[in-house]
Amino acid sequence: MDEPAATFPEEGASADELLDRIDALAGGDIDWRSGRAFSLVYHPDDEALHHLQEAVGRRYLHENALNPFKYPSLVHMEQDIVGMALALLHGPGGSGSLSSGGTESIFLAVHTARSWIEQRRGIDRPNIVTPATAHPAFAKACHYLRIEHRTAPVGADGRVDVEAMAALIDDRTALLVGSAPCYPFGTIDPIPAIAAAAVERGILCHVDACLGGWLLPWWERLGEPVRPWDFRVEGVTSISADIHKYGYTYKGASTVLYRDADMVQHQWFLYDDWPGGLYGSITAAGTRPAAPMAGAWATIRFLGAEGYLAKAAMVRDATRAFQAGVRAIPELAITGEPDMSVFEIGSATVDMGAVGDVMDDRGWNLDRQQGGLHLMVSPYHVHLTDQFGSDLADAVAGHGASRGKAAGYGGIVGHEG
Ligand SMILES: Cc1ncc(COP(=O)(O)O)c(C=O)c1O
Repeated sequence: MDEPAATFPEEGASADELLDRIDALAGGDIDWRSGRAFSLVYHPDDEALHHLQEAVGRRYLHENALNPFKYPSLVHMEQDIVGMALALLHGPGGSGSLSSGGTESIFLAVHTARSWIEQRRGIDRPNIVTPATAHPAFAKACHYLRIEHRTAPVGADGRVDVEAMAALIDDRTALLVGSAPCYPFGTIDPIPAIAAAAVERGILCHVDACLGGWLLPWWERLGEPVRPWDFRVEGVTSISADIHKYGYTYKGASTVLYRDADMVQHQWFLYDDWPGGLYGSITAAGTRPAAPMAGAWATIRFLGAEGYLAKAAMVRDATRAFQAGVRAIPELAITGEPDMSVFEIGSATVDMGAVGDVMDDRGWNLDRQQGGLHLMVSPYHVHLTDQFGSDLADAVAGHGASRGKAAGYGGIVGHEG
């Protein structure tokens, strides 16, 4: 950033000035509206939905879901969303809550497992076992909660080796994790085998369906093969599923769901040892922004099964076309056996970093992974598949040396002093 060091403004700026400044600042931001972005934003290709979301966001801009007694509308929406999500994932009679995103849902599920094993077995320093491909949110939750994080390797197909996972379980293990699908390769782990290992040991099993939770049910209804992953699998005790991904709402909405109606009680933090009266909170955040909740509720009810199914068909068609484009280039390969609309393009012969650089120059924003380039397909992409295929072929045929862009998609920018 070539901004001068920030000083506190003596006088306020005008709204016009600030909006102009924001426009100028945002000039360097990713242009997701063009569809040439593959993560961060899930472009639903739906103007009517966008207008509804803007209206709902404005309506709930300043509301605060911290105190449910003051906002019965938000209590209604949260319960309604949890109920709809449980119905969708075949967990009627279960429990759950909304959270701000996948990371918070995972944090809450890990915290619940820790609290559960402490209550049940008096174990206060447990461990959890995840696939090596599990999202870093598990490592982060373990870091915050001082839980040991054990990771099991995945096979060439991109799915966790369940025997290796079972070998990592001991008396302090509270939770086994599988992804549906995992972020790096888009593969669904062998959830029935993971859940069976959990049942055998009498411990919990979480499915991270942050990516797939709001897409796989429609994928299945479209007749696509979907490996078992939801509450229909015996032994799956909790699921995280993000509405702000393939649920197509704006950022700040995820669900954390439990098979057992009482399990969500572990999320509650109640405290009255201060002068302010009883404080109760069900998520990691205290003040909870209402706009994402209301936006998620309106989005789900606006689209309904019909709308989600239509968007899933677009995602499926775009995924097939992208993958056909990759397979038409002999130097490239798709890593593992992706189950959904997320996959990695790798190569044994071509420097994929250099290919990514050419694609960047052509306006595509492909995240780099250790093994190649990452794609996360949205409905809007169905309009861009031919262009993508020809740009990719050009990039493979004529690239220079890699500019050395590091693998990753999270944030490493901070501010000190
Ligand atoms: C499989 C998976 N789990 C969890 C997360 C974390 O979600 P969030 O970025 O909303 O915190 C992601 C994000 O992409 C993900 O792909």
